[in-house]
Amino acid sequence: MTDFVRNQWYVAAYAEEVGDDLLGRTVLGEPIVLYRLQDGTVAGLADRCVHRRYPLSLSHRDGDRIVCGYHGFTYEPTGACAYVPAQTRIPRTARVPSYPVVEQDSLVWVWIGDPARADATTIPRAPWLAAPGWTVVRGMEPLAARYGLLVDNLLDLSHETYLHGGYIGTPEVAETPIVTRVDEEAGIVYVSRHMADAACPPFYAKSTGITGRITRWQDIEFTPPCLYLLHSRIAPVGVLPGADGADPDAYHVEVVYALTPETEHSTHDFWAVARDFALDDQGVSGFLAENNRTVVLQDVAALNVLEQVIATEPDGYQELSINIDTGGLAARRMIAKLR
Ligand code: FES
Ligand SMILES: [Fe+2]
Repeated sequence: MTDFVRNQWYVAAYAEEVGDDLLGRTVLGEPIVLYRLQDGTVAGLADRCVHRRYPLSLSHRDGDRIVCGYHGFTYEPTGACAYVPAQTRIPRTARVPSYPVVEQDSLVWVWIGDPARADATTIPRAPWLAAPGWTVVRGMEPLAARYGLLVDNLLDLSHETYLHGGYIGTPEVAETPIVTRVDEEAGIVYVSRHMADAACPPFYAKSTGITGRITRWQDIEFTPPCLYLLHSRIAPVGVLPGADGADPDAYHVEVVYALTPETEHSTHDFWAVARDFALDDQGVSGFLAENNRTVVLQDVAALNVLEQVIATEPDGYQELSINIDTGGLAARRMIAKLR
């Protein structure tokens, strides 16, 4: 029995990672091989040959088929075996499971669970990642820590002040109370922190060119189990959106994370930063990519330590939670309900 939330969609890869080559990736403990078919769609099969377990991701393709690199069992994209060596009869059980796969918003989503229950219309959206008017930088960092630690981390941004000081943290983040709201029906946790008059951290000063203090809004929208959005709004102090919602004098950054458990104790930490300004400025792209990766790696280092701390602690250790944790606790409750 694991803590995994099955019968859900998870991000397994970025679209550009999946091409002609066979990509092996483990999601919720299930090794999967992903590859792009000749019609442009993505197929996902269990990455373990039914014969002697050889990983199909270490094998090779024959058109849309995969030929096992050990003894040549040959699989269709459906997982059915079309050829076995040295005999004409193909055993009825010669097949590997195939996964429902959907490519959306430049993300490759796989359904982990009963394929009959997969409904692509329930996949949450991150449109900025593939929409005109936005420029995106992104990456994926392997995290040697359990998924739940990353949920905690992202739902409480007060840690920016301490863990990310000099990058995205300023004193106002930790000082400003949050507003948490849970939409049970939609399955979304919202956490907002609106700073009316805050220092502009280097992350935004260098990318936007704002020199003075800012009005800084952080609006988190987490759809458990996998997709986390941080709607970030930066504007000179006092500049607010118009009554009609138009907001031409602000800078908008959509920070997207996909949190995908790899194993019980490791996680794929997909991160992306989409912006609606300096769209063609390679310097800004390079700065945001490098700076955000540094910030993500600061989290990764901290969470990897926490995983080790948890591994050695006695049973029954009691955490202490305070107001800043209301979003994280709401997320935990919602994840527990999905199990
Ligand atoms: S392990 Fe794949 S054909 Fe033998
Ligand atoms: Fe962080």
